[in-house]
Amino acid sequence: MNRPTISATGVAVVAYDESDLRHAAEAGIRAPSLHNSQPWLFGLRDGAVEIRIDPRRQFGTGRSGWAARLACGAALYNARLALAAAGHPPVVDAHPDPADRDLVARLTPAEPRPPTYAEAELYDAVARRYSNRGPFWPAPVPAEVRRALLAAARDEVAWLDLLVGATALAAVSEIAYSADRVLRRDARYQAELATWTHADQAPDGVPAQAGAPLPEPQDLLPQRLFTDRRRVPGRDYEPEPLVGVLGVTGDRPADQIRAGQAMQKVLLTATAAGLDTSMISQPIEVPAAREQLRRSLGRSGSPQILIRFGYGTPGHPTRRREVADVLI
Ligand SMILES: Cc1cc2nc3c(=O)[nH]c(=O)nc-3n(C[C@H](O)[C@H](O)[C@H](O)COP(=O)(O)O)c2cc1C
Repeated sequence: MNRPTISATGVAVVAYDESDLRHAAEAGIRAPSLHNSQPWLFGLRDGAVEIRIDPRRQFGTGRSGWAARLACGAALYNARLALAAAGHPPVVDAHPDPADRDLVARLTPAEPRPPTYAEAELYDAVARRYSNRGPFWPAPVPAEVRRALLAAARDEVAWLDLLVGATALAAVSEIAYSADRVLRRDARYQAELATWTHADQAPDGVPAQAGAPLPEPQDLLPQRLFTDRRRVPGRDYEPEPLVGVLGVTGDRPADQIRAGQAMQKVLLTATAAGLDTSMISQPIEVPAAREQLRRSLGRSGSPQILIRFGYGTPGHPTRRREVADVLI
């Protein structure tokens, strides 16, 4: 129960309590993560929420820790929003202990204030967001929504390049397929992927129902194989998908955490605007492809994730472990 107190300025404010911190962790675990690996742990102590990388849930894709940092950055963004929506926007201390590399951030609720409309709207989208890997309808995404997506990335000191025109799409499609071929030939990678393809009741991993239908030669973007389901006849992928490449200026661990927060703000902004989204990361996981992608965009920074936006038919959300299982 929240307790009203009187601030130094004489204004009645509501102190946060343990349940606000727990809600922040509950919002955190709704974040996306590579293959739904959920590589996070949360500590609720000394009046703060700590978010840590769980080293047992990292992948060996050659870019050690990248996927876990993006996921933990997204979890951090959700936790920030939950505290702000409860009227306790936090002070975020990123990487507070240089000797403890897995400690991503400590969030301490600060001066209380009512949530802004934008914070409330994005927090509301946390529970509704999920990856939709199916075909989207060919309806275009309105210009004002595109502008909101670009602004969401900018707010978190990242960039989002929305690919414009068939030439840009074809270039990224080629890079994505070449990366996908590299990963498909990598037996260890495929074995790891298979361990995250789970039954629907599992609390982590991706169930077959959430997977994309089997690929066909006309598809512009490679999808992960989580199912052997064929697509509904005639229901192809949209011919001109809206694809965004999200990146940041550097590629240090702190940059990747920042990219994760920006990714989540972009995904939630899309959800709030009624869009479906899915993510594509093969070109990020293969260093040569990633460099090609960076050059094709003319960017000096580092691409961190690709996002497809559009209007789909309802998909299949994935499950999460209980918050009690990730509290330390
Ligand atoms: C770093 C990162 C990389 C991802 N790469 C892919 C991808 O290549 N293909 C895909 O279908 N989903 C990808 N995803 C989405 C995850 O599979 C998804 O977030 C996870 O299964 C949880 O499901 P949800 O997004 O529906 O909550 C990625 C997510 C993250 C954070």
